[in-house]
Amino acid sequence: MKKDFRSRTLAVIRDFSIEEQLFLYHQTKILKEKWRKKEDISEFQIKDPVNIYIVFVEPSTRTKESFINAAKFHKNARVNIFDSEHSSFNKRESYVDTFNMLTSYGDYSIFIVRTRLEGVPRLLKKKVGEFADRHGIKRPAFINGGDGRHEHPTQELLDEYTFLEHKNFDNSHIKIALIGDLLHGRTVHSKVDGLRIFKNVEVDLIAPEEIQMPQHYVDKMERNGFKVKKYESIDEYLSTDETADIWYFTRLQLERMGEDMLEKAESLKKAVTFREDMLHKVKEGTKFYHPLPRPKINPEIPVFLDDSPLNGWETQAMNGYWVRVVLLSMLGGAIEMETPTEQNEIENKDDEYKFIIPAKITHGTKGVLKEGKRGIKPIDNGTVIDHIAKGKSPEEIYSTIVKIRKILKLYDCDSADGIFRSADGNYKGYISLPDRYLSKKEIKKLSAISPNTTVNIIKDSSVKEKYRIKLPPKIYNFEEISCKNENCITNPKNGEGVPSSFVRIGDKLVCEYCETPHDYGEIWTI
Ligand code: NCD
Repeated sequence: MKKDFRSRTLAVIRDFSIEEQLFLYHQTKILKEKWRKKEDISEFQIKDPVNIYIVFVEPSTRTKESFINAAKFHKNARVNIFDSEHSSFNKRESYVDTFNMLTSYGDYSIFIVRTRLEGVPRLLKKKVGEFADRHGIKRPAFINGGDGRHEHPTQELLDEYTFLEHKNFDNSHIKIALIGDLLHGRTVHSKVDGLRIFKNVEVDLIAPEEIQMPQHYVDKMERNGFKVKKYESIDEYLSTDETADIWYFTRLQLERMGEDMLEKAESLKKAVTFREDMLHKVKEGTKFYHPLPRPKINPEIPVFLDDSPLNGWETQAMNGYWVRVVLLSMLGGAIEMETPTEQNEIENKDDEYKFIIPAKITHGTKGVLKEGKRGIKPIDNGTVIDHIAKGKSPEEIYSTIVKIRKILKLYDCDSADGIFRSADGNYKGYISLPDRYLSKKEIKKLSAISPNTTVNIIKDSSVKEKYRIKLPPKIYNFEEISCKNENCITNPKNGEGVPSSFVRIGDKLVCEYCETPHDYGEIWTI
């Protein structure tokens, strides 16, 4: 079976499976070899009409120019370079409205998008895809050319391709040092998943604490099976005898730093800048890489190294063109991948209510309302929400009760609530709603507002249904939730009107767009 890549989106490197990434690298190798031997490379050219739009809202040299050249390799493509500075972005038009319009100018479009805001490609895939469906246009493909501090998946493609070349295409093992601004650098964040193409991965993180890799990325690398070590500076790293043969430098992202950090930038930079006196300690066969640009004053990789065997960054940057030609070949339908079975993209389906678990009814009559003895009248018919925020402080329990009542609008009926201490000494809250039955939809909402709660449906003075509810796999459709990342496309401050949505991963809720992890309590605005 052949896999068609048209209409696929590359918002994060994980959007392509490991097999798909390896396929792209293999195709790039073939293309480069054919080109070197001056053989026919027309099989890589897109045959069907396609509009390729290059939309860069943040500055760029290499990513933008290599994409323009890669797009022009495809002679049938109509290549459009969008002038974002003089566009309606400056009349406060939303991203979705702008891209909807551009989509309508052709039968099929591929967009390469770079933005300061994070999560934009994921949003465009969803909303502009819906626009295309409404108008019978083929769904466009979106390529993330870098979204804020989040990810830079095409840089990842060219980096991994370059590492494979370095290793003669042996992907059994890699040991890599990531050096520099690991906090703000999106190219190193994409490594967290991109390095999975190697079977055995060791990563040394070299940065002062202030600009070290965020912990959730370190956790993810460990979950991916990588061996991770941290060092404060290149000096400290060189004092060990265990340095990697691949050193990946990144520049300090001054434009993404706050005032406090900018003041310290010079001293932070010293820790991650290479000096001549370090040269004799670098292992034979080592190569230095860098996504570039490097600053002209005090670059992390000094210019005197350009003419040394350490220089891997020039070939790396040149590979950007080839990898992007192939990516466009794939998204334009020129090359298809042989696959044993049809694989569909995995969507999060949460409509099966798997997190609402029917529980055994232990007390036939009014059992749930023993508390009635302490001031609340047992009900004959209606709903009792029990075990609210059990084990939390009475203050937290009270605010959860208020949250439930506000969000589910449980104030337009007879009701009572209270905080009690259960037999095990823990406090818990409950809400009693005579003659009011919660619908399945309301119980589903409740599971997002107050997981680990019990719902009792009472009829004729006995408990007829009882549910224990758990945190659902996805939380969305609430006005009262928001991503805490100010650079996220969903953050209300950015005025794009995109509702927040979170996916449960482990014990965290991860923003569907910018992937910032949140603790359960952090997503609520009330
Ligand atoms: C990188 C980027 O934009 O994230 N550059 C690039 O695309 N080659 C790295 C950087 O700007 O430091």
